[in-house]
Amino acid sequence: MTNKQKVFITRKIPDIGIKMLKKHFDITINQEDRQLTKKELIEGVKGKDALLSLLTDPIDKDVVDANPNLKIIANYAVGYNNIDLTATKDIIVTNTPGVLTDAVAEHTVSLLLSIAKRIPEADKFTREGKFQGWAPLFFLDTEVTGKTIGIVGLGRIGTRVAEILYKGFNMKIFYYDPSKNKQFEKKFKAKYLPMKEILKKSDFVSLHVPLTPETKHLISKKEFSLMKKTAFLINTSRGPVVDEEALIDALKNNKIAGAALDVFECEPDIVCNPNNYTIFKNLQNIIVTPHTASATIEARSKMAEIVAQNIINVLKGKKPLTPVKKS
Ligand code: DGY
Repeated sequence: MTNKQKVFITRKIPDIGIKMLKKHFDITINQEDRQLTKKELIEGVKGKDALLSLLTDPIDKDVVDANPNLKIIANYAVGYNNIDLTATKDIIVTNTPGVLTDAVAEHTVSLLLSIAKRIPEADKFTREGKFQGWAPLFFLDTEVTGKTIGIVGLGRIGTRVAEILYKGFNMKIFYYDPSKNKQFEKKFKAKYLPMKEILKKSDFVSLHVPLTPETKHLISKKEFSLMKKTAFLINTSRGPVVDEEALIDALKNNKIAGAALDVFECEPDIVCNPNNYTIFKNLQNIIVTPHTASATIEARSKMAEIVAQNIINVLKGKKPLTPVKKS
C-alpha cells in the first residue's frame, strides 16, 4: 500500500514535468490525447490531492465539489479564465507565467509580419504555379518599419512584443493598460493613450489582455469603426476578447485591412455561429493559427517544469511559485 499523495493530470504534457511529479507522487494521466469530458474530469479528480489542468478544461463548481479536499489546481497555461475562481475557494490555483513570453511574442510578431506581407497568400499563389514574373504593381503589401503599434495590455507579453517591434522595426509604440508604466514609456519612447485613441491612431493593434468579464468583446462593432481602414488587428490573447460577428463584418466590408488570429471565440471551433464558417474561411484578409502561440518546445517544457514545481511545493507544504491572485 502506498501512502503517496495523488495527482490527476488531464492530458499529457512534456515528460520533464511528468518525471518531476512521478518522483514524489502517484500520478494518473489521461492516456488519450484528447480533452476530457466533464464527467471524466469529475471522476478523475476524486480522491486526488492535486489537479493539473489545461486551459481547455473548464474547472467549475461541479469539478471542485467532486473533491473539495484538493490542495492545488495547477493550470498549464498563463491564462486561467477556464477556472472559476469563485468556486475554488481555499484551493490554491497556479498558472505558468514568464516562461512563454518569448514564444507568444515571437508568434505575435510573426502574425503581424505575415498579414502585412501577405505571406500565406503569396505562398499559396506561388505553389499553385500562378507566378508569371516580377511586375511593379504585383502583390503589393504593407511596410511595417516606422509604423505605429497599439499594444492593448502591457503585461510581460505585450511588453516583449513592443520591445521587438521598437528595436527591430523602429515602430512607434502606443499602449493601453489599467496602469501606466513610466519606465516602459522612457525605454521605448512609448505613449500611453486611452483605448479610443489607440484604435484611431494605430496601424497595428495587438491584444494582450487576460479574458475577464471586463475584457469580453473589448473589440466590437464600435471599436472596429474607430480603427483605420488600413489597420490590422492581431489577437494572441483569448478569442472572446474580440466579438466574432463584429470582426467578420469589419473584414467582409473592409472596415479594417486585416486580422491575424491565434485564438477564437468558441474554440476549438473557429467560428461560434456555423453560418459564419464559409464567409470566415474564404476571407482573404485574415490569417489564422490554431492557438499555438506558446507551442515552442522550449516554452512548453518550461511550462511543464513550473506546473510540476507548483504541485510539488504545495503538496510538500511550501509556497507555490506562481499563485494566481484571487480577489
Ligand atoms: C496560455 O498559456 O494562456 C496560452 O494561451 C497558451 O497558448
